[in-house]
Amino acid sequence: MPPKLLIIAIAIILNATTAPFAYADSQTEARKLINSQGCMACHTLDGNGGVIAGSFEAMRDKLTRAQIRSQLVNPERKHSNGKIPDFSHLSETEIDVLVNFIQAKP
Ligand code: HEC
Repeated sequence: MPPKLLIIAIAIILNATTAPFAYADSQTEARKLINSQGCMACHTLDGNGGVIAGSFEAMRDKLTRAQIRSQLVNPERKHSNGKIPDFSHLSETEIDVLVNFIQAKP
């Protein structure tokens, strides 16, 4: 096999083997954030959590990325008083992790 093809082959194999780990990592990261940010005081996940707001499972397929994002980063519109708190203190990456998780299809 010419060296160029060999490199491409290795790249394809590496990509195929690391992609599932990246997915698992972001799932773990999302669950960590959900715990550290106290989301489950109000929302349920896997049947556990609060009943003030809906379950994360129910949000899947229902909401677009933009809709989820606008719920999390919304300093003026919704704040406390039994409503969802503002999570604009989170980094872009952390918001992305949460958005991906909520929208993640099984
Ligand atoms: C203090 C309670 C509370 C906490 C904590 C909370 N939420 Fe919410 N959330 C709500 C309520 C209530 C709603 C319904 C919309 C509203 O009234 O603001 C909501 C709505 C949402 C929605 C939109 C759901 C829909 O069907 O439109 C998403 C997405 C969401 N929350 C994600 C999260 C995430 C992720 C966290 C943690 C980072 C979190 N929430 C923490 C109370 C909370």
